[in-house]
Amino acid sequence: MSPDEKKKQAAQAALEYVLPGSIIGVGTGSTVNFFIDLLAEKMSGDIETTVSSSEASTQRLKKHGFRVEDLNAVGHLSIYVDGADESNSRLHLIKGGGGALTREKIIAEASDQFICIADDSKLVGTLGAFPLPVEVIPMARIMVAEKLEKLGGSPRWRENFITDNGNHILDVHEWSIDNPVELETQINQMVGVVTVGLFAHRPADVLILGGDQGIRTITA
Ligand code: A5P
Repeated sequence: MSPDEKKKQAAQAALEYVLPGSIIGVGTGSTVNFFIDLLAEKMSGDIETTVSSSEASTQRLKKHGFRVEDLNAVGHLSIYVDGADESNSRLHLIKGGGGALTREKIIAEASDQFICIADDSKLVGTLGAFPLPVEVIPMARIMVAEKLEKLGGSPRWRENFITDNGNHILDVHEWSIDNPVELETQINQMVGVVTVGLFAHRPADVLILGGDQGIRTITA
């Protein structure tokens, strides 16, 4: 089974968590794109409105005729569906490969249930093989990079990339993240950091993995 088939399988399984009348938070990335398309195909009349984590997902949702609202207008979400770059078995995640980590983290925080969908290659023993994205205010990029180096990481500027919020991304390589909760706290405290793509204080509630043997579901 190809990675795309596995992603589609996970996206299909996530539909079961979407209740009619839902206000749904929608993440970003190739797996979520499958989810948006399936949602349009199978449940379009059941969705009251959506809150999107990126301009790319907003465009795709609108193309399918979904309403997209600002989180401030909605306040609270029952469910958020998004992908991940890595997950451990405690459903701590690395996110932000697509650069949408800040809005993703905000929507995750505002949602009762966070359903993470991925192909089975995303489940790892220890987070960190995938470079950890950190969104920074542009003028603080080098200052934050020096602090990340002192913590043991190897940050690299994602050049020619500006986030939907007008900021820069540092991708931190060569980190074996043994304590995601503590590291998230440490990076959050750095002046100039907008968001770190570690989702450990607010992990996923359900991880749905597509694989050759079918769906595997892990709950927190
Ligand atoms: C976007 O910024 C990311 O957090 C994505 O959720 C993550 O990169 C997963 O993307 P794929 O579904 O394309 O693997």
